[in-house]
Amino acid sequence: MDFTELLNKRRSIRAFEPKPVSKETVEEIIKAAGKAPSWKNSQTGRYYVVMSETALEEIKTECLPPFNAKNCADAQVLIVTTFVKGIAGFNGDGEPVNNLGEGWGAYDLGLQNENLVLKAAELGLGTLIMGIRDNVKLKERLGIPENEEVAAVISLGYPAVSPSEPKRKEVSEIAKFF
Ligand SMILES: Cc1cc2nc3c(=O)[nH]c(=O)nc-3n(C[C@H](O)[C@H](O)[C@H](O)COP(=O)(O)O)c2cc1C
Repeated sequence: MDFTELLNKRRSIRAFEPKPVSKETVEEIIKAAGKAPSWKNSQTGRYYVVMSETALEEIKTECLPPFNAKNCADAQVLIVTTFVKGIAGFNGDGEPVNNLGEGWGAYDLGLQNENLVLKAAELGLGTLIMGIRDNVKLKERLGIPENEEVAAVISLGYPAVSPSEPKRKEVSEIAKFF
């Protein structure tokens, strides 16, 4: 599949087949995430992969609002994504290098996560990036260290739907040329 085809194929998936996803497949997808560029190659993105039936149920019911729990009801995997704070965008003595501060950690994680969802799409899997989640409960449940910030929860599974592309802005609306 060429890159443009892959870009067009990836969609947010909110209904999944109840078909298992192997650990090896998840590892392959996370390996692709790790190929992303990062601030001074600091690679501060982290992944907490939830695959067991009990843990999936707990995270869906306790850490997601009902509408997102419904969006991932049959997802076989939930990947909680975090980044280690105070590294990307910071200098050696812990001062932010510029205006974006911890935003650079989130930026790097976003780059990784785009790789992750594209690799999943290439392998015929669907994903949904969920930004609406309970970060405090996720930290508690998964024992995520204090120095990590929770960002998105990404559901993963074999898609049961094939949505069409939501309307995109024109290049002229998002870019200015000088
Ligand atoms: C940072 C981020 C947070 C999102 N949070 C949610 C969410 O909590 N629930 C949801 O259903 N979709 C969520 N989405 C999915 C977007 O609604 C979706 O990407 C957008 O409508 C474009 O559709 P597409 O992904 O199929 O291109 C999120 C996407 C991103 C990138």
